[in-house]
This record gives sequence, structure tokens and C-alpha cells, in this order.
Amino acid sequence: MTTTERIAGIPEAEVASSIKVVRDNADRIFLWNYDRSRGQLVTLYNKAMSSQWNSVSELDWSTDVDPERLVMTQPGPALNLAREAAALPGSPLANWTEKEFVQLGIEMFKASLSQFMHGEQGAMMTAAKIVETVPWIDAKYYASTQTMDEARHTEVFAKYLHTKLGDAYPMSPFLEAQIMALLEDSRWDIAYLGMQIVIESLALAAFGDMLRRTEEPLLKKLLRYVMSDEARHVAFGVLSLAELYQDLSSAELKERQDFLADNTLRSRARSTTPEVWERMNVNVEAVLPFLMEAAAKMETSAFAGFQRGFFAKLVPNVRKLGLLDANNGYLRQRWAEAGLLEFEWADDTGSDYENYDAVAADRAAAASAASA
Ligand SMILES: [Fe+2]
Ligand SMILES: [Fe+2]
Repeated sequence: MTTTERIAGIPEAEVASSIKVVRDNADRIFLWNYDRSRGQLVTLYNKAMSSQWNSVSELDWSTDVDPERLVMTQPGPALNLAREAAALPGSPLANWTEKEFVQLGIEMFKASLSQFMHGEQGAMMTAAKIVETVPWIDAKYYASTQTMDEARHTEVFAKYLHTKLGDAYPMSPFLEAQIMALLEDSRWDIAYLGMQIVIESLALAAFGDMLRRTEEPLLKKLLRYVMSDEARHVAFGVLSLAELYQDLSSAELKERQDFLADNTLRSRARSTTPEVWERMNVNVEAVLPFLMEAAAKMETSAFAGFQRGFFAKLVPNVRKLGLLDANNGYLRQRWAEAGLLEFEWADDTGSDYENYDAVAADRAAAASAASA
């Protein structure tokens, strides 16, 4: 169907601009077996219940956020790139003053948080799809807690943008295509693989990158709390898929390996947000060659900060799923060609989610302070 058809609950004039219709091709599975047979998922579900946090009472929304200060104390790689591009001969940014760079930094920051917000809604929808499609009761229970987590994440990023920064940016076409494909796929485990393993690793790396750079206390706490949930979500993916993939045929495993190769090798393409440049009254086509030249000049390694963080989380988890070595090491070979195997034994979020639990750490500290 097209999005111009009538959708109950939405005024007809707003349908085209305010919603996206996605058709799910996977079957919903109702279960008759309620046995709690998967101990590690039971543990994870219990952990998820006790680590729920309240976005209204546990974050201090009265914190005063000054976007200009925020950008000047945490210049991101994109802003540094723009400064480098401005110094190149003939650059459309040549006449920019500090005022424009600060404004660009604010717009880029808003663009990043907007992608976090849209991605979190995608995660909420995907977790809800897993509730409906996974054939194991323990996984349905767990995915229900994740759906709540992702609702909270979507809501806090939307609130931070709306109350502290201003207008959000639209979802990037790349992220949209990636998430819609998961929501439409007929194979339930592809939603898991794409969200819990690929996009959650991407999110942990992106949030971690922002957390390292920011001094803003509300954003810091928000990111720490969101990350402690995300690390659990990755563990959920690893536990579930490691079990499933033991029973798939070579041909089925090959499909999953191709999915990972396509997703990861494609996601390395540098993306830019054209709307940011539009808001800055700069012609995107005109500035792009300068940004690319500046990027080529600045590139110190094939895997700059954020990309490193992503693969350091992704590759070890894929190894645990058995997908590196299935089919005579088909994925191992493809990733080796791209230089990704250096991350095979890196950061361990698949079982180490306890270390990310900032919520539990804060509560333990508060409890010991109260008893002291
Ligand atoms: Fe999330
Ligand atoms: Fe998540």
C-alpha cells in the first residue's frame, strides 16, 4: 500500500508527512509451552527487570544546557573536518567565522541525536517484532523488557532534543533503509541479527564516543543509562542466536554470513547529512568535494575512532555465533580482506554486560552512601 491511503487515527492530510507504513512478512508465533528452559535468558530477564530506570525521576531535566558551550567543549570529528575543509583553497567555507563553525557544530550535534532518536524507535519496533515472532517463551519475555527499554530511549532522546536543543532532523536514508529491511524480513532471526548484533554494536560505539567527549551532566547520565540497557540487548542477541545457529543448515548460515558482510562492508561508506548544510545555507554539492579532500588528508588509519568502537563490539559477538567460521570460514575470509579480523578478540559485550551497568552501580553507591 502507499502511505497516502487512509490510516485510522491520523488525519488524512498528515499521512504522507507524518508516518511510514511498514509491512512485516514474518509470522507471529503464539506458544503453548511456558517452560522456563533457557536459564541464561531467565537470568537476563530478571536482571532487566531490576535494572529498569525511570526517565522522569532519575534524570535531572532542570539541568541548564547551553548548546554553544556544549559544542565548544566537545568538538566532534565532523566539526574538525569542516575546519580542515575551510582551509582548503577555493572552499565555500573559506570566509566562515567562529560563529558559523559553532552553529555548524550545534546542527551536527542535533543531527546525531536525531539519528539516535529515530534508531531507538526502530529498536523499539524491532524488539516488539521479536516478541511476536520468536518461538521461545523466555525470549518473548526478555524482548518485552527490551521493548520498554527502547521506548524509554526514544523518549529521552526526543525530550533532550525538544527541550534543550530545538528541531530534530529527519531519519537518514541509510539508517531508514537498514531498519525497515529488518522490520519487513520474513525470517525472525534477521531482526535479531540486524538489530541486536549489528545496530546495537553501532549504537554502543556511537553513544560511547559521545559520552567520552561530553561534559554536559544530563547528557552524560542519560547516555550511561541508555548504554547499560544496550549492553544487555547485545547479550540477548548473542545468547539467542548462538543457540539457533547450531541447528541451521550450511545454506541458511551462508545467508546470515552474507547479510553481515553486506551490512558491515556497506556501512563503512562515509555518510553526510545534507539537511545540516541546507540549514547553514551552504550548497551540499559544492562543499562535498572539500569535505572528502579534508577527510582524505585527516585519515590516520582505515578505522577512525567510532568505526573502531563499532567493529570492536561487533566482530567478537559474530565469532560467538559461529558465523565467522561456518562454511569453511566464508565470513572470516571476507572480513579478513576488509581488515576486520584485528577485532576478533576485542571488547566483550556478549557476556560482559554487568560491567556496563551504570544504573546498578549508581544505586549501589547511593545505598552505601545512605548506610555510611
Ligand atoms: Fe536503545
Ligand atoms: Fe537496544
